[in-house]
Amino acid sequence: MLNKYYLTTAIDYVNGAPHIGHAYEKILTDIIARHYSLRTDNMFFLTGTDEHGIKIQKTAASQGITPKQLCDENAQKFKDAWAKLDIKYNRFIRTTDKDHEQIVQKIFQKLKDKGAIYKHEYEGWYCQGCECFLNPKDLTEDGLCPDHLKKPDVVKEENYFFKLTDYKDAIIKHIKEHPDFIVPSFRANEVLNQLEDIQDISVSRSKENVGWGIDILDDSEQSIYVWIDALSNYITAIGYDPDGSSEQFKNLWPVDVHVIGKDILKFHAIYWPAILMALDLPLPKHIFAHGWITIDETKMSKSLGNVVSPTSVLENFELKYPDAFRYYMATSAPCGRDGNYSDQDFKEKVNAHLANSMGNLLNRSLSMLVKYFDGEIKPEFIENRSQEAESLLKTAIGTIKIVENHFNHFEIQEAAQEIISLVDATNKFVTDNAPWTLAKEEKMTQCGQVLATVLEIMCVISSLIYPYCPNIATDMAKQLSYDVATKYDDITVSNIKAGKLITKEEIFPVFLRVDSELADKSKK
Ligand code: MSP
Repeated sequence: MLNKYYLTTAIDYVNGAPHIGHAYEKILTDIIARHYSLRTDNMFFLTGTDEHGIKIQKTAASQGITPKQLCDENAQKFKDAWAKLDIKYNRFIRTTDKDHEQIVQKIFQKLKDKGAIYKHEYEGWYCQGCECFLNPKDLTEDGLCPDHLKKPDVVKEENYFFKLTDYKDAIIKHIKEHPDFIVPSFRANEVLNQLEDIQDISVSRSKENVGWGIDILDDSEQSIYVWIDALSNYITAIGYDPDGSSEQFKNLWPVDVHVIGKDILKFHAIYWPAILMALDLPLPKHIFAHGWITIDETKMSKSLGNVVSPTSVLENFELKYPDAFRYYMATSAPCGRDGNYSDQDFKEKVNAHLANSMGNLLNRSLSMLVKYFDGEIKPEFIENRSQEAESLLKTAIGTIKIVENHFNHFEIQEAAQEIISLVDATNKFVTDNAPWTLAKEEKMTQCGQVLATVLEIMCVISSLIYPYCPNIATDMAKQLSYDVATKYDDITVSNIKAGKLITKEEIFPVFLRVDSELADKSKK
């Protein structure tokens, strides 16, 4: 058992409603969180929204409402979407939360008092999409931001600057000495390249230009630049205070993993470590940069009109639970690579994996137990099992360790593949041993042993699939009289006990095939 696990997502900008890309990250993180909740009693999952900055200020103005109104409306949309996707966080931080704002002011002051922040007259190219100044050499040939393809604003201001360059060598050293600091490791080289020509960064904006920000304590003309505000959420949310932090903070920091998208790796792997070093705090253990989700292999964009809302998928397919969508998203790409969403692929994959392979396996095994044994496990079914059964049970327990190891490396798709392989091996075991033939031949003990072995493995499978599909796993466990909250360390192969397990009436399918006609009809 681990003594704690603390993990975070990026906090989303609230100038619009959540889309499937935001959902992808929250689902991945929720799956990691649920996995670790079975490996420690002390897991903390933080998510939230990033609410200050020029973009929010302008969007609100264009809608004729105050920035706070816009934030309240949209933050609620994020919370509602996460509730529908069963994202079970411990705190939802908003950067407009009072406790956050006060500590960010103290953090800024501490950095200033330490000399890590200084004032400087500056002229540069500011991209509103990135909410940061761009290096002229990074602009496209037409002078546009390469990510947002928009012309940055020319901004000439006296701002506060953070001495990022002071930390350059220490960060390079840290990355080189900790090969698992940046996950996947192929992204570490990108960061090392970016470090080559870093400069000090602007950490404030004039209030005249950006009114919607946190005030600086002793300077009424400047407000704190969004990235210092945003990144600090990871420590303010759990009680960091320069004047004395909470027990919770002492207990949880350093964070085990920041889950973020590849586009904001620079902020997390360069800016954030430098700020933490300046605050004399230990660095995150891992920064996991996931890839991006495209729709039907096309980049999502408002102008193409292909932005998919995560909850619309649940509605279109009339899904009772979000489990199938969670499973599909989490397995859409190998660790750190880009993934894709398509309706067709979604239907095929979840029908094949969750309905045909996993759901059916449980359903037909329980049905046979009822048909041949009136739902009862006889003592001889769980004794003296065949070599083949023992070996499969061993594989099942071995799969727990393999899955844990994948999660240690944030290989969420890869872990799911192992679980489905175990399902496939168990299906093969049923086909090879044909319990229906054994029953016909009146080899009842053998038949019961095959079924009990399968049900035993289904307990392990319900535990393993739980982080991805919490509702399906709970429904599986219910029919097996198994506790799906069993910690991974405590899982054995003696979950199935002798006695009556189930009646015909208590059996139900855990996942119904996604009906393509139904989905198509509801879209019209
Ligand atoms: N507010 C900043 C993050 C601050 S973290 C201290 C931000 N917000 S965002 O709303 O633009 O993005 C939030 C997260 O969603 C980021 O990790 C980003 O990579 C992710 N995604 C946004 N679009 C995405 C896809 N199409 N696919 C996958 N993830 C994407 O950046």
